[in-house]
Amino acid sequence: MTDVWQSAMDHAVAVARKAGQMVRDAVGSLQKEAVMLKSSSVDLVTQTDQKVEELIIQSVKEKFPSHCFIGEESVAAGEVCVLTDAPTWIIDPIDGTTNFVHTFPFVAVSIGFSVNKQVEFGVVYSCFHDQMYTARRGRGAFCNGEPLQVSQQRDIQQAIIATEFGCNRDPETVDKIFSSLKRVVTIPVHGVRGAGSAAINMCMVASGCVEAYYEIGIHVWDVAAGSLVVAEAGGVLMDVEGGPMDLMSRRVLAANNRSVAERLVKEIDVFSVRRDDAAS
Ligand code: IPD
Ligand code: CA
Repeated sequence: MTDVWQSAMDHAVAVARKAGQMVRDAVGSLQKEAVMLKSSSVDLVTQTDQKVEELIIQSVKEKFPSHCFIGEESVAAGEVCVLTDAPTWIIDPIDGTTNFVHTFPFVAVSIGFSVNKQVEFGVVYSCFHDQMYTARRGRGAFCNGEPLQVSQQRDIQQAIIATEFGCNRDPETVDKIFSSLKRVVTIPVHGVRGAGSAAINMCMVASGCVEAYYEIGIHVWDVAAGSLVVAEAGGVLMDVEGGPMDLMSRRVLAANNRSVAERLVKEIDVFSVRRDDAAS
């Protein structure tokens, strides 16, 4: 990685910390915060999501004027969602907006940075736990400067698996989610968890306290940064049907090792979702 990416990463860490402070400050005035809806009645967004994204994009633009952006709230406002070879900041200002609205304390600022469609660094700041997860391609993953390593567990029956219900309440989709969940629970695994933030679920895999995380329906901004944190902690990323993970496919399977991942692939009942770049 050239020096220019290191200075971009330093900037990402600094701005994620600032953004996290903004999220924490906003909790005091949550009563006044209007909660708006996006794709469904359970897909929430607040003014804080929008303000935090603006803060991040403005500060990056000042330092790196030629770089591109994919930001959750900018895409919601009509910007195209296309991943090119150009240096691109992939931003989720608040990953875990439902948690934020309910003050459930798993809320992250997620910033991934890709060049040639490959994530070069990822920064996930868990705002309420003051945990800064960072990864640079080929240089390891860290939480508050301490190296991360995935769990060494190979037996899925001794594993904790993370997943989410997402925000699609279409009964056929919910049936598929429950059918996968039933198959996973009855492997049996030790437990199933979900933090309510894709980025934090991935950091849990990287930290070794959860063996794997899967979900269909996430977006590129939810997983770009976290995917590198997992990979650099020694984990694997896969598509939910096996094969390489595609950042724009809205499907993710992150695991501590290939054998746990491949076992999960057998249990996941897939359903179709529109790709992030479908309209671009
Ligand atoms: C959501 C969270 C949640 C996951 C959803 C995501 P948001 O992101 O990561 O855990 O289940 O699929 O959309 O909307 O809070 O940024
Ligand atoms: Ca978000």
